[in-house]
Amino acid sequence: MDFEQLIDKDKLPEHIAIIMDGNGRWAKRKGQPRVMGHRAGVKTVRRITEACAKLGVKYLTLYAFSTENWNRPAFEVNALMRLLVETLNKEVKILNKNNIQLQTIGDLSRLPDRSRKAMENAILETAKNNRMRLTLALNYSGRWEIAEAAKSLAQKVKDGLIEPQDIDNEMFASALTTYDMPDPELLIRTSGETRLSNYLLWQLAYAEFYFTPLYWPDFMEKDLHEAIYTYQNRERRFGKTSEQLDE
Ligand code: FPP
Repeated sequence: MDFEQLIDKDKLPEHIAIIMDGNGRWAKRKGQPRVMGHRAGVKTVRRITEACAKLGVKYLTLYAFSTENWNRPAFEVNALMRLLVETLNKEVKILNKNNIQLQTIGDLSRLPDRSRKAMENAILETAKNNRMRLTLALNYSGRWEIAEAAKSLAQKVKDGLIEPQDIDNEMFASALTTYDMPDPELLIRTSGETRLSNYLLWQLAYAEFYFTPLYWPDFMEKDLHEAIYTYQNRERRFGKTSEQLDE
């Protein structure tokens, strides 16, 4: 089925979040080293970024490296960091050509200097683009982010800038790394895993979850279209009844 034709362009999710999973298993299935899976994964990043921009999605946020990923063998961590630098340096031109802005969320301070600088440079060079924002979550975890937000609000209370009772959902959201983005309406996770793995814990409160058994390197434009079509045909009730939604 051609899901692209079936997508309602007026009901697109404004923000899609993705957990790119299965690079390692994809490589293993082919008898290749895991790093080859990550290299193939980069091609999918490019493909899906362009497909989202083409459809009119405004924000795409990809889980590129979690705080837990430091526990992988040093060889793989180093390869991922190198791949990040290589990819960023190569892709900046293509991002600019497509008018896509790059951003990051996460604690960049722990990244190797070269990776952090490549990221900062790419952010700077794409800052004026406004067709879509691509955000890479790097050394990111949802609990880390929530704890950081709590710390910054506590400091404001201590400094006498706000009262504890001023803190509500809106103020809390504005203390998160995603303060200037809408919450994702759709979360996609590849590779058949059905966990959230510490990703955007606050922001995904009302998101629709879409899980596919495909490994990330095998995830094609048509699979993105199917995910969006499925999302559009689910009923989002935000705690209301179906009847209330018809009113
Ligand atoms: C999950 O597959 C993927 C990652 C931990 C990293 C994702 C990284 C990329 C797609 C490449 C780098 C990205 C950029 C933007 C430069 P896995 O290794 O957990 O796979 P497995 O579960 O099969 O082992």
